[in-house]
Amino acid sequence: MSGEKPPVEFCKGVNGLDKVVLREAKGSSAEQVYLYGGQVTSWKNDQGEELLFVSSKAIFKPPKAIRGGIPICFPQFSNNGPLEQHGFARNRFWSIDTDPPPFPTNTSNKAFVDLILKPSEEDLKIWPHSYEFRLRVTLGPGGDLMLTSRIRNTNNDGKPFSFTFAYHTYFSVSDISEVRVEGLETLDYLDNLQEKQRFTEQGDAITFESEVDKIYLGTPTKIAILDHEKKRTFVLRKDGLPDAVVWNPWDKKAKAMADFGDDEYKHMLCVEAAAIEKPITLKPGEEWKGRLELSTVPSSYCSGQLDPQRVLQG
Ligand code: BG6
Repeated sequence: MSGEKPPVEFCKGVNGLDKVVLREAKGSSAEQVYLYGGQVTSWKNDQGEELLFVSSKAIFKPPKAIRGGIPICFPQFSNNGPLEQHGFARNRFWSIDTDPPPFPTNTSNKAFVDLILKPSEEDLKIWPHSYEFRLRVTLGPGGDLMLTSRIRNTNNDGKPFSFTFAYHTYFSVSDISEVRVEGLETLDYLDNLQEKQRFTEQGDAITFESEVDKIYLGTPTKIAILDHEKKRTFVLRKDGLPDAVVWNPWDKKAKAMADFGDDEYKHMLCVEAAAIEKPITLKPGEEWKGRLELSTVPSSYCSGQLDPQRVLQG
């Protein structure tokens, strides 16, 4: 039909940065992927409502990573290692992958893009390993957002390498004090605010009344974020990513971040599917895969408990 927008469009975003827009057949679900960082910065439902948080102060300029959306932390989560905080994948320029190896589950879905990151000469000086990091971002027919990362060791010196990883997803929420997270109850976590000491979470769903920065360990494949005010529940499904980071900077840290508004902490929550506690090790030729699938359902479908059947039907 004339006037219909294509499922995949290559265009320019903020500061002339290259981006890809994905659209699903129903029309209004749009999603933006910046080649800078291989970063999703927008995911909208069919009402045109934005589901991801991006700070109004985000700096779309290297070397600063874009504050919001889904930054990718690789090859190091946090500052727990020789590299800069959260590694370098989030502030490198990715390329369009024109010839990705086949995916086992290739659907008739048209709204997807394949990106690739390989180390530059400069990168090899700070992390001396060759790899191919392939990222497929797909917008499913129902507006679901799927990210699949495939990381391959292409070292030809016979050496394995190890890395940690996170999809650092910033969800947009109406009011952080009205939000709860289900699926992490009774799990062990490392508290970044208490020298990474290990604690065990209480039996109740997680709610928020102050800064939080925790790495939950051995988490289930499904986690839900209930936004009571919006009557919306985000459902995260993940594969290959045993850990989950929950982060909100609250007021003091918010003020200390130059690329984050003072009050914006009220409207965001990071729940990050990750592999942190046990780093992934790949021998030359080996590949690791980590998948994240995000969807939304009306809150009534799973308020009170995370009922997989109901969520799936929703
Ligand atoms: C979270 C970490 O994943 O990211 C926090 O657990 C950190 O400790 C936050 O403050 C933001 O990191 P950055 O580097 O994007 O400011």
